[in-house]
Amino acid sequence: MKIIRTCREMQAYSHELKLKGENIGFVPTMGALHAGHLELVKRAKSENDVVVVSIFLNATQFHNQQDFEKYPRTLEKDSSLLFDMGVDVLFLPTHEELYPDDYKYRVQELDLSQELCGKYRPGHFEGVLTVVLKLLNLTQPTRAYFGEKDFQQLKLIEGMVSSFFLPLEVIGVPTIRESSGLALSSRNERLSSEQKQMAAKISEILKFSQTSTEAKEQLEKLGFQVEYVEDKMGRRLAAVYSNDVRLIDNVSL
Ligand code: PAJ
Repeated sequence: MKIIRTCREMQAYSHELKLKGENIGFVPTMGALHAGHLELVKRAKSENDVVVVSIFLNATQFHNQQDFEKYPRTLEKDSSLLFDMGVDVLFLPTHEELYPDDYKYRVQELDLSQELCGKYRPGHFEGVLTVVLKLLNLTQPTRAYFGEKDFQQLKLIEGMVSSFFLPLEVIGVPTIRESSGLALSSRNERLSSEQKQMAAKISEILKFSQTSTEAKEQLEKLGFQVEYVEDKMGRRLAAVYSNDVRLIDNVSL
């Protein structure tokens, strides 16, 4: 597995692959990898000649400094998982590499990004879209893979790719869950076993409530602090807090 740390080398490497006619599958992540991330990697491997995975904990998309600081960092374990899966390139840029402009230039979306998670995390999707555009320009993928777990993020990235005529296909991958129903997330590592048991009920409640209002009431009854439950884009989407851990999930309606 080749490790690339600079933007210049990443761009030169993908350019070379393109000249050789190789298809590139790209999976951007923030690390603390779990089976959900690995599913995206599996899909990318099965559909492309070369797979590039990036690990970059993107400060500009964190609306809360504490959440950024507490985000798990497990680079050694992550890289050995990716090595075992036969990933070709691991891209590990630094903040300075990716933001030479000090984040003076940003991608802004004015509609969907202002709702749901965007309403409670101002600037979050600006950070996400900006870093994803940078990463796509550097890795020049044929296909880029994103999880439905972050459904709003997936839709916004699809919108950016089509609005700016980026020459790639965005592939959405269904949410991977524990057998309990809990959607895998890097933040789950911060839950106690009791909190985890409670969190396992989230998807069930979203699925089986008649309305979003009923789902919100049920989640509150269980002890979650509910940010939102909304029906949109054919999904029921929710964000809740279990103590200070923020969890999101969505199910198809
Ligand atoms: P991160 O949270 O590390 O997630 C990386 C990718 O894995 C995202 O596309 C996310 O939707 C997907 N993913 C996470 N949990 C999943 C699960 N249980 N099942 C399926 N897919 C899952 O999302 C980000 O990073 C960042 O915002 C990023 C796009 C990398 C930009 O910084």
